[in-house]
Amino acid sequence: MNECNNTKDNPEYFDDKYVPVDAETTSFWSKVYDSVKIMDCKDISESPECKKCVCQYNRLEEARFWSRIMEEHALFILLGLPCDQPKLQIEAKFFINLFSDLRKRLDEICKLEGDLLDDLIKAVKLIIEFKAKLLRLIIQCKEAPGSNYPLLLDHVRREAERFLGLLLKPIPEDSLDLLLQQEVFWLRIMKEHIEFVIHLLDPSERELIDQAEAFRKTFSRLLETARDLESMNETNPKNFNTVVRFTQDVVRNTIQLRNFKAAAFELATLCELLSIVSTPLLLDHIRREADKFLCELEVLLPEVIRCRSTLKK
Ligand SMILES: [Fe+2]
Ligand SMILES: [Fe+2]
Repeated sequence: MNECNNTKDNPEYFDDKYVPVDAETTSFWSKVYDSVKIMDCKDISESPECKKCVCQYNRLEEARFWSRIMEEHALFILLGLPCDQPKLQIEAKFFINLFSDLRKRLDEICKLEGDLLDDLIKAVKLIIEFKAKLLRLIIQCKEAPGSNYPLLLDHVRREAERFLGLLLKPIPEDSLDLLLQQEVFWLRIMKEHIEFVIHLLDPSERELIDQAEAFRKTFSRLLETARDLESMNETNPKNFNTVVRFTQDVVRNTIQLRNFKAAAFELATLCELLSIVSTPLLLDHIRREADKFLCELEVLLPEVIRCRSTLKK
């Protein structure tokens, strides 16, 4: 997402004096505006092109991304289980193997359908139940949590629910509804990533903890705003320019958070970070999820700008 550094690509948009932009944010918006196609009609929200969101999910790409995430969740859970819980360890290993096999099958096809789609749906339903069961056991004090935070189990359960939703109904209806849904989902995920990082860093890592605390405040605020905007959108406004402006803020901060996660991963792999993170892969995993959020915004924003805003009209 980093190739273009030309801030003059979209002078109108970047005249917005409320939000300072950096090169990566500028590059992101250049691509978004390159994708915006202005339709010649009096009221764009009435255009047949805008009745249905034309941005299509690539279900196979989604499946490849999320299957890797599911396999890694099972690994993180396994590494966090206490050594006196062999049955749960065997279950976690089962899911690592299950998703590893599914990933190999996904790599060999061009279209996701038939038996593989059915097997994937079954596997995701099973891992959702496994994560929920583990969480229930901990909530009810039936099993020791090891180093699996209850909120982490709930977080990975929600991510699996999202994957299942994409497999079951992959074609979105309205771009603005979908954008706000995505922002509410992902901003909560991003906020929780920061909270996990804060609790996994060694207390002596004061500088990094301070940076993470600043991110936590920012993302808590963004999540709250996204929920407000999603609620207001229930009144079905024809256009909602504020969402585009808000998303500018989201993109800028998510790029910064993504870079923070990438730097933490690099430090961990170089053994320059004090923490109780079970594997540096966890830091790469949360960086990939931030990139996924940015990719989803990049796909949806041109639709929202074109169909549900009066910007660039
Ligand atoms: Fe995850
Ligand atoms: Fe996550």
